[in-house]
Amino acid sequence: MIEIKNLKKSFNQNEVLKGINLSINDNEIVSVIGSSGGGKSTLLRCLNFLEHADSGTIRIADVNVDCSSANKNDVKKIISKSTMVFQNFNLFKNKTALQNIMEPLIVNKILPKAEAEKVALSYLKKIGLEEKKDEYPSKLSGGQQQRIGIARALVLDPEVILFDEPTSALDPELVSDVLKLIKEVASEKRTMIIVTHEMAFARDVSDRVVYMDKGEVVEVGSPEKIFTNPKEERTRQFLARYLQPEYII
Ligand SMILES: Nc1ncnc2c1ncn2[C@@H]1O[C@H](COP(=O)(O)OP(=O)(O)OP(=O)(O)O)[C@@H](O)[C@H]1O
Ligand SMILES: [Mg+2]
Repeated sequence: MIEIKNLKKSFNQNEVLKGINLSINDNEIVSVIGSSGGGKSTLLRCLNFLEHADSGTIRIADVNVDCSSANKNDVKKIISKSTMVFQNFNLFKNKTALQNIMEPLIVNKILPKAEAEKVALSYLKKIGLEEKKDEYPSKLSGGQQQRIGIARALVLDPEVILFDEPTSALDPELVSDVLKLIKEVASEKRTMIIVTHEMAFARDVSDRVVYMDKGEVVEVGSPEKIFTNPKEERTRQFLARYLQPEYII
């Protein structure tokens, strides 16, 4: 369960999150859509403390953190509750596919090397890339790199997985494999927030969709509601720019 209350974040004079309130249930898949610059990445980064929000509270599972007074220990606890999948994969270039997936288990001292290797191998199998275990990222396609990015996020079995436009950097023909994997992960009863511009995917995979604009949550609803009958004019206008005929029932 994630509970975000009145979360605010500014970069100098630019207020990027203007008091975000959002609750997400256990095992819920929530997509976040919205125009560029609306604060979607900043929201995810604040949940994972890659950015430190100025104020507001974040609860993930049993850890509740007040951002205006959070100390190192609070931050450490809440960071351990989520992992992030990045648009540009963020793999270690000097590590192989297998080593990239093992990394969180080693760095967090969760398993000794030999066991970490076994677990990482099982994830490589799961994503269908066992035969690439000794390849470096530069020898892999974007889609393969992102599947490794997802395996790396899964290996710690986190409470929450945060996806920030996981397919935006991929060539169109590589998108579907990655979306298929995310859908598979979603079906394993996990709590996920997916920032995406893939509207058909958001509609297909999500329990709820959040439309964000200019640092605010404008509207939250079921995919049917948001994509066919949004309440807010701003949501309608945004979708009018995106919706293609195949997305309309
Ligand atoms: N580290 C930073 N320093 C200064 N400004 C930042 C920083 N990160 C984000 N911003 C600003 O915050 C605003 C929101 O950015 P953010 O990346 O969260 O938007 P977004 O909704 O993810 O956009 P996109 O769809 O293009 O990824 C933008 O105006 C951006 O320039
Ligand atoms: Mg972004």
